[in-house]
Amino acid sequence: MASGTSRDVVGRGLRVLGRAIREQPRIFAVAVTGSVLFGLMVIASAYVVGAVVGKVVVPAVARGSVTDGALALAAAALFGISVLRVVGIFGRRLGAGYMQYRLQATYRRRVTRRYLDLPLAWHHRNSTGTLLSNANSDVEAAWYPIAPLPFAVGTLVMLVGAVVSLFLTDWALALVGLAVFPALFALNVVYSRRMAPRQARAQRLRAEVSGIAHESFDGALVVKTMGREAQETARFAARAGDLRDALISVGKLRGVFDPMLETLPSLGTLAVLVVGAIRLRQGAITVTELVSVAFLFTVLAFPVRAIGWVLAELPRSVAGWDRVRRVLDATGEMPYGEVVLDPATPAPATLAFHDVHFGYEPAEAHLPGTEVLGEVTFTVPAGKTVALVGPTGAGKSTIASLAVRLVDPASGTVTLDGVDVRELTAASLASTVALVAQVPFVFDDTVRANITLDRPGIGDEEVWAALRLAEADGFVAALPEGLDTMVGERGTSLSGGQRQRLTLARALAGRPRLLVLDDATSAVDPRVEAAILAGLRAPTDGGAPASILVVAYRRATIALADEVIYVEHGRVVARGTHTDLLATVPGYADLVTAYEQAEQEREQTRTYDEVTPLTSGLEVEVDR
Ligand SMILES: Nc1ncnc2c1ncn2[C@@H]1O[C@H](COP(=O)(O)OP(=O)(O)O)[C@@H](O)[C@H]1O
Ligand SMILES: [Mg+2]
Repeated sequence: MASGTSRDVVGRGLRVLGRAIREQPRIFAVAVTGSVLFGLMVIASAYVVGAVVGKVVVPAVARGSVTDGALALAAAALFGISVLRVVGIFGRRLGAGYMQYRLQATYRRRVTRRYLDLPLAWHHRNSTGTLLSNANSDVEAAWYPIAPLPFAVGTLVMLVGAVVSLFLTDWALALVGLAVFPALFALNVVYSRRMAPRQARAQRLRAEVSGIAHESFDGALVVKTMGREAQETARFAARAGDLRDALISVGKLRGVFDPMLETLPSLGTLAVLVVGAIRLRQGAITVTELVSVAFLFTVLAFPVRAIGWVLAELPRSVAGWDRVRRVLDATGEMPYGEVVLDPATPAPATLAFHDVHFGYEPAEAHLPGTEVLGEVTFTVPAGKTVALVGPTGAGKSTIASLAVRLVDPASGTVTLDGVDVRELTAASLASTVALVAQVPFVFDDTVRANITLDRPGIGDEEVWAALRLAEADGFVAALPEGLDTMVGERGTSLSGGQRQRLTLARALAGRPRLLVLDDATSAVDPRVEAAILAGLRAPTDGGAPASILVVAYRRATIALADEVIYVEHGRVVARGTHTDLLATVPGYADLVTAYEQAEQEREQTRTYDEVTPLTSGLEVEVDR
């Protein structure tokens, strides 16, 4: 069974290499040409050395004097061969390097490109760590064998050339070659097969050891205060011991195989000398030929190892490739439709949910998924503002994701102006709706770039208009370089509320006909939040009004809504105006009041705009 699987790995590995060659055929041709040139020059060097000994040295020894002409010719031939060998090595190394790094870059791009195409549902099932290692180490591992591949291919050609030249020289010496070369090849194969799992294990243990070290240094405070030094040290020592054993086992294998790999060609040379001496006495070969063949056996040993290097990398390559392909072949894509909502009408859009059910896919396929939303039906009429209110985990963010089609319902429909969102083109959907999430994401770029995102038709005038609507024009104007100020990770750090308003302006700049705000202004001062919403409902400076679906908690904000939808446990439990719900729905009144109390406490301790959103913490309190 073991040999079956390893043969399987070699077969699959060779198919992966075949794909690499099909992707970079020209560069591969350059590298292999270099490698074949090198191989042929290795054979040639053996024959030239043989000729120098047979035609120059032996006669010279016999005569007692050296012919200058013959010596110069021999030196020139050896020099010429060396130059060609160098050219061959250069071509091979350069080609192999180009090929390996180009393939890495290509597949990194493909994998990351694919991440963006895959729907949110797929991302929910895959951790960030997996995504990073797919794009980095897996892509690299898949193409590791590319580095020695041209060398190995050139070596195969060289071996064939060597056997042919042996037969042309003498059949008896050729038989020695036919015994030694396959043995050398087989020894390399066995060596790499034994080595691959040992090295993989050592590699895994290296990662584990550094993981443990990282953890206990990171948690040094906990470790010390809880008096866990001894246990932590023991845990580390055990893993470090395993790593030591794994590396020793690698070393032992090297110790056994390296001498064999060195000795085998020497034994071959010895056999050649014995057989050759007999053939020389029989007059079948000349001294030149004997020296050439003996020399050939010594210079062939090293290149043969390149074949072993490729074979040793194949299991890792196959494993990396499988993980890369899992991303590239991932299904669950969100096909877009063909319908374009008339972009000429800047009128607000009508959003309607009809009997929508939804459940997140379980992290592992065999687990049952749970329903998060059920029978959700509501409408945001054109130009109206609807507030979505409910405790943590009620499904508000899920409704927001469905409204902008980050995810699709399990059953039921979400429509925009009466058209199922699944029938819209990607561009039409993007220009019609905009979602502003609670946690703002700001790119490490200028304020302007963060707002325009390279979308056409958004000039500085539009940027300022959007900033005004988001109540962000004041602080942006006060930034040292205005719109050109760098923000984000390394730029000017903005407060939570400023970031939220910047991302709101980004959404507004695209002039969406439906705006979905998922608790998007939670870190903004309550009075400013209400002002923003009021401004969005009735824009004064020529901005088109939009329909608004807003997840909110604050009384002042909710009171501005035309209708409030109250959700609990994924169901719409009540709807109506804020005043109606306060009077008739006890859960609603409790939630709004509890939130208000929490806000007051917060206002006493901190100022708005300088803290990151605290909503989630507050929600938990409310939930209880
Ligand atoms: N990516 C996810 N995978 C699995 N379950 C999720 C995911 N996101 C949210 N949920 C679950 O769906 C339910 C609704 O969540 P959400 O829509 O975020 O609620 P809200 O925004 O009202 O707090 C919760 O029970 C939550 O645990
Ligand atoms: Mg939420």
